[in-house]
Amino acid sequence: MKKYIQEDEWRIIEDGFNPDVHESSESLFSLGNGHMGQRANFEEHYSGPYLQGHYVAGIYYPDKTKVGWWKNGYPEHFAKVLNAPSWIGINIKIDQYDLDLYQLQVSKFRRVLDMKEGILSRSFIAEFPNGYKVQVKTQRFLSIVKRELGAIQYNVKALNFSAEIRADFYIDADISNEDSNYDEKFWDQVSEFADERFARVNAKTKKTSFVVSTGQCSRVDIDKQEVTKKPKAIVQARKAHLVYTFNLSEGQEAQFYKIGAVTTSRDYPAGDLDKRTRELIREAEKAGFENLKKEHIEAWSKKWEHSDIVIEGDVSAQQGIRFNIFQLNQTYSGHDASLNIGPKGFTGEKYGGGTYWDTEAYCLPFYLSTADQSIPRNLLLYRFKQLDKAIENAENLGFTNGAALFPMVTMNGEECHNEWEITFEEIHRNGAIAFAIYNYTRHTGDNEYLYDYGLEVLIAISRFWSQRVNFSEKRGKYVMLGVTGPNEYENNVNNNWYTSYLAVWTLKYTIEAIEKLRSVNRKKADELFDRLQFKVTEETAKWTDIIGLLYLPEDKDLGIFLQQDGYLDKEQITTDQLLPVERPINQTWSWDRILRSCFIKQADVLQGIYLFEENFSLDTIRRNFDFYEQRTVHESSLSPCIHAILATKLGLPDKAYDLYLRTSRLDLDDYNNEVHEGCHITSMAGTWLAIVEGFGGMRVKNDHLHFDPLLPKTWLSLKFKVHFRGRIIHVYISHKKLQVSTHDGSKFRYYVGNKEYLT
Ligand code: BGC
Repeated sequence: MKKYIQEDEWRIIEDGFNPDVHESSESLFSLGNGHMGQRANFEEHYSGPYLQGHYVAGIYYPDKTKVGWWKNGYPEHFAKVLNAPSWIGINIKIDQYDLDLYQLQVSKFRRVLDMKEGILSRSFIAEFPNGYKVQVKTQRFLSIVKRELGAIQYNVKALNFSAEIRADFYIDADISNEDSNYDEKFWDQVSEFADERFARVNAKTKKTSFVVSTGQCSRVDIDKQEVTKKPKAIVQARKAHLVYTFNLSEGQEAQFYKIGAVTTSRDYPAGDLDKRTRELIREAEKAGFENLKKEHIEAWSKKWEHSDIVIEGDVSAQQGIRFNIFQLNQTYSGHDASLNIGPKGFTGEKYGGGTYWDTEAYCLPFYLSTADQSIPRNLLLYRFKQLDKAIENAENLGFTNGAALFPMVTMNGEECHNEWEITFEEIHRNGAIAFAIYNYTRHTGDNEYLYDYGLEVLIAISRFWSQRVNFSEKRGKYVMLGVTGPNEYENNVNNNWYTSYLAVWTLKYTIEAIEKLRSVNRKKADELFDRLQFKVTEETAKWTDIIGLLYLPEDKDLGIFLQQDGYLDKEQITTDQLLPVERPINQTWSWDRILRSCFIKQADVLQGIYLFEENFSLDTIRRNFDFYEQRTVHESSLSPCIHAILATKLGLPDKAYDLYLRTSRLDLDDYNNEVHEGCHITSMAGTWLAIVEGFGGMRVKNDHLHFDPLLPKTWLSLKFKVHFRGRIIHVYISHKKLQVSTHDGSKFRYYVGNKEYLT
């Protein structure tokens, strides 16, 4: 745990320069706008350790798989979001000295991420070996209005000297990924260009042939007067520079402005990119830094209007949730159904930027409640569009008849993951994708989605489950062998309760959806079944058989569902018996020891209870929570939020609060000592869930919102808004009251406990 970020309701603040945490700060202060994102790398040259990170959504490279021992069925490639050409560079030389914070005396360093406005700023004083002192103030943003644009203001003031300044505004396409499997570079150079007003580099990805055009323009003012001398344009392989040289006298301040544009062949024909980048830069130049900034801030203000959560009485918790909401909104804008949300978003390379079950299980509810319905719908369409590949993926593993197994990790629908115990066995992801269809329809009431797209996905997933189980003559039951549940601290288990429960639920839900479509539009149903060669009676009869006979392990004496067969044979110890130095166990124990221990990485049985809470009595929930919470080490960021929600349900506010802080400040306080690799973007949606479904107790049941709030003792009140069925609902909760109203003043029926209320 590292706690160096100042607590503040709207800002992330780092005071004082400490190179040891620089890479962590690069993650925490990241910027993004759905189209592109960047770690908070410095604009100027930095010779200390840093992790370069500039990413463009949907631009990936299929890196050749590297595994110790090949297994048939492994994918040939792991698609990775690429570290893309960077446009932020501004190298400063004062006389012969580089402005390089790693080499200079730095004082009054402050880095601030203003989440209300979406602006990253930095200020410091640097002292050179010859005694020159400069004061630097910077601002940077990635426009959420014009998503292909970003802008920088970089002010340099000569505090005690007069000297020649050289400012080199450049684009750098000579970049690589740290996680490259074979130390390859993933970009081919295409062309570079620079004249005195504009510079750009076009680069093309190897294999996937995406072209990305990165352009820049620049401007230098001295004491707010534009320097008329034109910059020198320089091109080199993979680089384009605009270089200014001028004198700065003591007390004068130079203001550098830089606008960057990133266009891609995902959005335009490759041949048009030059023109498009240049046009964007021209328009942005005309608008000017201040206007671009103003419209960007206004757009953030609108975003916050819909998605903010206000916690009164707890700055730490407030900052935590705003940081999480901010990062989610920076990562995914929902404007393009072929994009998704990587576990690290645009903040680092880990996980390759691919799509995981995290999207459906955690992120979807956030976008359902805080954004226009088209946005969560695009998340579902993403999987629908990849259905053919999921069917192919299942075929590669030996499944037939249109059964689909969605990938564990993917960029374009193809599986990227390559550890057999996860790739082939962590199949619960299919269940999360099915559940997301249900979650979306129950929240939005958009049944058309179910009929037009969802049902086809459900049938393919149900076909998979029906082939993945087998009938055990010995038990007289269906069983599901060789699976890994969400708890990756044990693999290749038989009858993981969560996976099997989800399979049964999917089969039931698919049958219900089939009946529903048949009753509202028989013709459409028949057409779909014909197209899928779906033998309704025969296939659903098999599913019904499985529903009735799938073995779900439980221990009647303890009154709990069992993680998997044989779980109770393990030595039963609890997390309080672990020494602090042993945690996280994945950094101190051998994998062998972890696999044999009873410790659970993340919510598993409890994940299932959370999803299907209405199917269990409070006593059942309590018994399972009491048992599993003591054995869960929460070494996945996705875990504490689910436990927090169940803890509030069970009336345990202190426990829920601890778990909440762990999820909401996971990155800010670096609980797992890994934030330098990037932030946990998908688990941030879990933080949101912990508040709205946990402390707010919100549920969607039978077409209505229900609330059952329980605030942590230290909070005075909690306020949030949710989109629900075309309306925006305002919710205010204090220890004494719950107030629900509609944004447009219309009447709205909601429930507290089982009692009905009208706004
Ligand atoms: C978790 C998975 C998750 C992945 C990406 C892993 O550590 O165990 O459940 O999908 O991280 O967030």
